[in-house]
This record gives sequence, structure tokens and C-alpha cells, in this order.
Amino acid sequence: MSRMFVPGPVDVADEVLQAQTKPMLPHRSREFEAVYRRASEKSQGLFYTNYRVFLTASSGTGLQEAAIRNFVDKRVLSIVNGAFADRWHEVAVSNGKDVEKLSFDWDAPASPDLVADTVRKSGFEALTVVHNETSTGLQNPVKEIVEAVRAVSPDTLIFVDAVSSLGGAKIEMDAWGIDMLFTSSQKCLALPPGLALGAVSDRAMEKAKSVENRGWYFDLVRMEKHRLKDSSPATPAMSLIFALDYQLDRIFAEGLDNRFARHSAMAKRVQEWADAHDLSMYAPEGYRSQTVTTIKNERNINVSELNAFLKQREMRIAGGYGPIKESTFRIAHMGETQMEDIEKLLEAMEEFLGK
Ligand SMILES: Cc1ncc(COP(=O)(O)O)c(C=O)c1O
Repeated sequence: MSRMFVPGPVDVADEVLQAQTKPMLPHRSREFEAVYRRASEKSQGLFYTNYRVFLTASSGTGLQEAAIRNFVDKRVLSIVNGAFADRWHEVAVSNGKDVEKLSFDWDAPASPDLVADTVRKSGFEALTVVHNETSTGLQNPVKEIVEAVRAVSPDTLIFVDAVSSLGGAKIEMDAWGIDMLFTSSQKCLALPPGLALGAVSDRAMEKAKSVENRGWYFDLVRMEKHRLKDSSPATPAMSLIFALDYQLDRIFAEGLDNRFARHSAMAKRVQEWADAHDLSMYAPEGYRSQTVTTIKNERNINVSELNAFLKQREMRIAGGYGPIKESTFRIAHMGETQMEDIEKLLEAMEEFLGK
């Protein structure tokens, strides 16, 4: 398998790709409904939740939109310290909601106290926060943010984008008190793109019933009625659900804690390597992602040339993203990636830098 150290789409194991090649079934058949139900129920383990998990035929952005359309009547607070949080803010604005943006420097975590203070002063039905900013390689202190907000405004719903971390970092939806938590298939779950998974609390589902103009395709109230019958309103992404069903068994066979430890060890190795090569991380210590490392390009490495070199060895890394595109580059360590892959990558990068 070639190795893509990019933050999605990531490499998919051959046997998982194969799982997609099962013959189609009518989607409203007992046989497929059993697979649908199994995949959705097994997914609850990933989210550490007893609430429902929706499987949507979309990428993660679809669920950014679903959160806004279903659970926000008017006022929402959008916490922004990176490109994907910024996208979520735009999603809220473009859906006509009354959105307040609470910005933090991109190289700093969102402050739980400041978030709570803003919620206390202005009152919000809901807030959005990105757990793992794929642009900056920063992990926000979501558990602490939820705690701080709950203390001042227990009714505010909290939505968390974990597109690039769920399955690679531990996020305990129920224990932390998150109302909606979602991810995409093509990141830490190491599946092909096209499927999103979103878990939703009971109180958020209750609220949705009174929200107008939820739309149709991502109307989670409609979806819930079908989900209770192990089905979906529109045709599901069947092949991807076969693959999800298969991949979840592989993930649980590895063990979630082992999986998180593997991701975290790879992150530490990449960070130490960068330090040793006079390169610093974009995100501050204590808030660094365990699934993707964003490195400041302080040595003016020609990333296109580096990637051309790496591609000869069937590897590739990612450039920067958004406004920090030119000044950073990224090494992802998620999904199927193992420490020995990281060692090979770092060895090749050393060879390139030594040239
Ligand atoms: C943190 C985060 N949120 C949202 C998205 C958008 O997800 P998708 O491309 O699956 O729509 C991405 C994609 O990279 C992401 O990293």
C-alpha cells in the first residue's frame, strides 16, 4: 500500500476496500436493514454514546449544515480558531441564522472561560466548536469548554466537529455532555470518502421538532423516524456501509485505547523529529493534535519538491491549508498509519533535507 500522510482521504486497507464489493441489495430489504442497524449500533462505541448515530450519504460538511438546520432556531455562537471552524461559521451564516463569531488566534486554543463568559452575557441556543483543527493541527479543550458552558447555561446545545479526530482520539460524547458529535469516513476511520457519522442527544432531537425549515435531505427528525426502522429516507451509501460494518470490527479488534495510544505515539514522534530538525509546531504544546501535525516551514522547504521526492517512494505529505497554506506543511498520522510508516517517512524526509 502506498502511504499518504495527508489528513484525508487516507489510505484504506485492501480488505476494507474489498468489503465494498459485496453485491447490492434492495435498501428496504431485511438483509440490508440488518447491516444498517449493526453498523449504526456498533458506531455508538466510537462516540462513547448511548444516543443514536446517523449515517448520512455525505461528507462531514453535510453534518455541519445538519447541526445548524435542525437544532438552531435563531441564535448560535460559532467558535473560530481555524479554517474548518470558519467554514462552519459560514455554513451557519448562509443558512440565515443569527450567528455570533467568537474568534481566537489560530495558534491558540479556544478558552473555556471566554466561551462561557460570552454565552453567559449574550445567551445562545447553541454553539459550534471544532475538536481537531485540521488546518492548524490544534486540538481544542472541548471537555473543558462543555463543562464551563454547562455551568453558566445548561440549556445551550453544544455541537462538536470531530471530523479529523474521532476514532483517533478519545471523545466521550455522553460523559462530556455533547449534543451533536460527528465525523467523516475518510479520516481516522480509514474508509473511502462519502459517508458521515453523527451522534445526537435526545434533548437536541426534541428541540429539532420545533425548529422550522429544517430542509429535507438532512432533516434529522425525518431521518430518526426511518432510523427507528433501520432505514433512511433516501437511498443510503450501501457499499460504504458494508465497508463501515467491516472496518468497525477491525477497529474494535485493535481496541480503542490501543488505537488512541498509537495515534498519540505517532504524533509525539513527528513532533520530536520536527524539534530535532529546527522546525516548530504551529499549535502550542498541550494542545497539539494526535492525528495531524502542522509544522511551521521555518526552513523554507520546497514542499512541492519534497512531495515529488516522496512520491518516488510512494509517500506524500500535505501542504498547509487556508491562510497558512504557504507558511506551514502537515504530516497526518491517522487511520491505518503505523509507527513504522512514520519512521520510513521521516527517514525519507531526512534524505531530502540532507540533499
Ligand atoms: C475539522 C474538519 N471539519 C470539517 C471538514 C470537512 O469535512 P468533509 O471534507 O468530510 O466535508 C474537514 C475536512 O478536512 C475537517 O478537517
